[in-house]
Amino acid sequence: MPYPLLFSPQSLGPINLKNRAIVSSLTRASATQDGLVTPLMKSYYTDYAQGGWGMIATEATYIDQQYSQGYSYQPGIANQRQADSWAEVVEAVHAQGTPIYMQLFHAGSVNQGNHWVSESIAPSAVRPKSVQVSRYRGNNEPFQMPRVMTQHEIDEVIVSFAEAARRAISIGFDGVEIHGANGYLPDQFLTTYTNQRTDRYNGDVMARLRFHLELLNAVRAAIPGKLLGVRISQTKVTDLEYSWPGQVEDAQVIFSEIAKTDVDFIHVAAHHGVNPVFGTSKSLSGLAKEYSGLPIIANGKLHEPLSAESALKNGEGDFVSIGKGALADPHWPNKLLAGRVPIEFVPDMISPLATLENYYDWRSRTSGSDQ
Ligand SMILES: Cc1cc2nc3c(=O)[nH]c(=O)nc-3n(C[C@H](O)[C@H](O)[C@H](O)COP(=O)(O)O)c2cc1C
Repeated sequence: MPYPLLFSPQSLGPINLKNRAIVSSLTRASATQDGLVTPLMKSYYTDYAQGGWGMIATEATYIDQQYSQGYSYQPGIANQRQADSWAEVVEAVHAQGTPIYMQLFHAGSVNQGNHWVSESIAPSAVRPKSVQVSRYRGNNEPFQMPRVMTQHEIDEVIVSFAEAARRAISIGFDGVEIHGANGYLPDQFLTTYTNQRTDRYNGDVMARLRFHLELLNAVRAAIPGKLLGVRISQTKVTDLEYSWPGQVEDAQVIFSEIAKTDVDFIHVAAHHGVNPVFGTSKSLSGLAKEYSGLPIIANGKLHEPLSAESALKNGEGDFVSIGKGALADPHWPNKLLAGRVPIEFVPDMISPLATLENYYDWRSRTSGSDQ
């Protein structure tokens, strides 16, 4: 057996995975304008399900018909029609024996396309660094200035996450992951420069983590016994340089406090998943494992199977999630098992747009369609 750890079964919360390879969330902005799943999306997810993955994470999916959507043509789970449109995806993926969970998303200030409202909201009136992303139909201009969330709006968003989770489970998803990473709403609370509040959501790292913890507790109460995880990162789509100011001490608080909620896993996003951080010998996912004691999904340039295998062997994580490598070759696990070389990611796959139409067009123009 090549890569014996990668291809060994392992349970995660209530789910049994046939191997440790998980498709990482990949926003493709290919739903309808009002956030419904399309037939092309169904065949896209079915392709992963046939590719031998232990589990699939959906792309970031918005949770309400207000400020949560961040990208035009992003799918939602904000109403029953959207939920019903996902049901066929879940059924098709389950027909291949593959579990699938939904990533739940709120853009906060990082909103460059919202079908429902024109304003953005955020913990504080701080414009995101960087500009709107063109591969998601952004105009390369700065983001609009967000409006400060009231306590009432914070409470409403938490309820909407819980309702979205309940909707996802009701149509058959195996679980949900709160997108707490990459600069979106929860991460805007955790990040010092986007959180300038003077209430109980700011102060020390514990206060800046409060929104994550309240979210996790509310979602857990909504979906008892079902798989629940949270994604965490230091860097953001709008800021690749940010690191936690308290370094190891912050990591200790963040991961150990998350572990006190009833979550099943932490999914750590990083550009180089196994790079050591904060002058320690461990990666961020290694620290997550140490301080939380929870199952950890490691991520970031682990598509070389030897890197994935050694990340698992060295205790950097219990599972690996693969982003660009999965996008490039939906059959990555089966190819490796068969001793074949998966197709490599090239930027043209997501340029000029990260949509499925663009990707399938690329595949039909190249030899990347060898599956
Ligand atoms: C096209 C594209 C879309 C992405 N969409 C999401 C997303 O919806 N949610 C998320 O948490 N991360 C998203 N990411 C980040 C990936 O999940 C992953 O963390 C990142 O690509 C690093 O892993 P890799 O080196 O295996 O690609 C996206 C990345 C890419 C390239």
